[in-house]
Amino acid sequence: MIRMRTLALAFAGLALGASGAAAADGRQLFLDNCSACHQVTGKGIPGAFPALAGSKVALGPAPAAASIVLNGKGGMPAFRDDLSDADIAAVLSYVRTAWGNKAPPLTAALVNPVRRTGKRENPKAALTAH
Ligand code: HEC
Repeated sequence: MIRMRTLALAFAGLALGASGAAAADGRQLFLDNCSACHQVTGKGIPGAFPALAGSKVALGPAPAAASIVLNGKGGMPAFRDDLSDADIAAVLSYVRTAWGNKAPPLTAALVNPVRRTGKRENPKAALTAH
């Protein structure tokens, strides 16, 4: 996780330097945090990382979608220490409308109760994911 965070920061720094844009948007958050596994196409890698294009979890009710990003699952790292409620809302809103996906966006207000009631599913996932 440390390595991934450093990379994400480096990319954010590059993006900032190049564009001068301040706040990371959902697409940028996806590229920085998710695309290594789920791919920029959202198609994932069959047998390893599920597609988010057409994913029932990604497109389904807010609590389940927010929970997997906050708490991780199996080989999916937990992002609760790395991404704010607003970041998670932004990245999931991107996922829910990219690649032909059509689901309503999420807000930080929907993510927050999931953060407060859930907990990290697999503490080691972040360390063993890569
Ligand atoms: C290290 C690889 C990795 C990264 C990085 C990663 N994921 Fe995942 N993701 C997985 C794996 C593996 C699963 C399957 C987990 C399971 O069901 O056991 C998964 C599952 C999911 C699912 C559920 C898909 C389904 O249909 O079951 C969603 C939604 C999701 N990830 C979103 C994200 C988002 C958003 C990010 C970035 C914030 C992200 N993931 C980053 C590996 C990753």
